[in-house]
Amino acid sequence: MKWKIRQEQEGDEAVIADVTRIAFEPKAFSDGTEETLPAKLREAGALILSLVAVNGKTVIGHVALSPAKVGDAKWLAVGPVSVLPDHQGKGIGSALVNHAVAVAQAYGRGGVVLEGDPAFYGRLGFVQSDALTHQGKPSRHLQAITFDGDAEGDVEFHPVFSG
Ligand SMILES: CC(C)(COP(=O)(O)OP(=O)(O)OC[C@H]1O[C@@H](n2cnc3c(N)ncnc32)[C@H](O)[C@@H]1OP(=O)(O)O)[C@@H](O)C(=O)NCCC(=O)NCCS
Repeated sequence: MKWKIRQEQEGDEAVIADVTRIAFEPKAFSDGTEETLPAKLREAGALILSLVAVNGKTVIGHVALSPAKVGDAKWLAVGPVSVLPDHQGKGIGSALVNHAVAVAQAYGRGGVVLEGDPAFYGRLGFVQSDALTHQGKPSRHLQAITFDGDAEGDVEFHPVFSG
């Protein structure tokens, strides 16, 4: 069956945590806490967008948008992004991120920012810049798409991302 993307609905909460855990589990960079992030953002009223990819009724992927700041400007952060291993490599992760970016653009924020692998996000238009820092330091994993103004300054993600 062809997969599609829809907004999170009531009842998806547990499966979103499962999909996030299963996707991140094999990754060396995982700290084992990613699965808790969608729920923490939801509880904090900071889950601005929560999209799921579904195959029939089965949730196979997820992406979140949350508020972030770049310097004094209001931006949005993309992530976590997860696709179940059996469904990876079919364009689902790219489609989830692209949809989230399109929604973010309609929000009228400065842009979208994330920490992730440039090899994946660079293909989706994200650009790394040393003018962006996180906790005062630049990083090759810190990447942005700018809608308005400059991608310049220290990035402040929602507090749930720092534990
Ligand atoms: C990253 C992720 C969401 C991509 O989902 P997906 O549905 O496989 O993505 P797509 O099919 O749209 O794109 C897959 C392509 O991206 C590449 N890719 C996926 N993850 C990558 C990574 N971390 N680094 C570099 N390339 C990556 C794949 O090799 C594939 O390349 P190909 O098309 O040349 O074969 C998925 O691999 C995943 O859930 N990974 C575990 C969790 C994770 O790492 N999340 C992102 C954290 S920053």
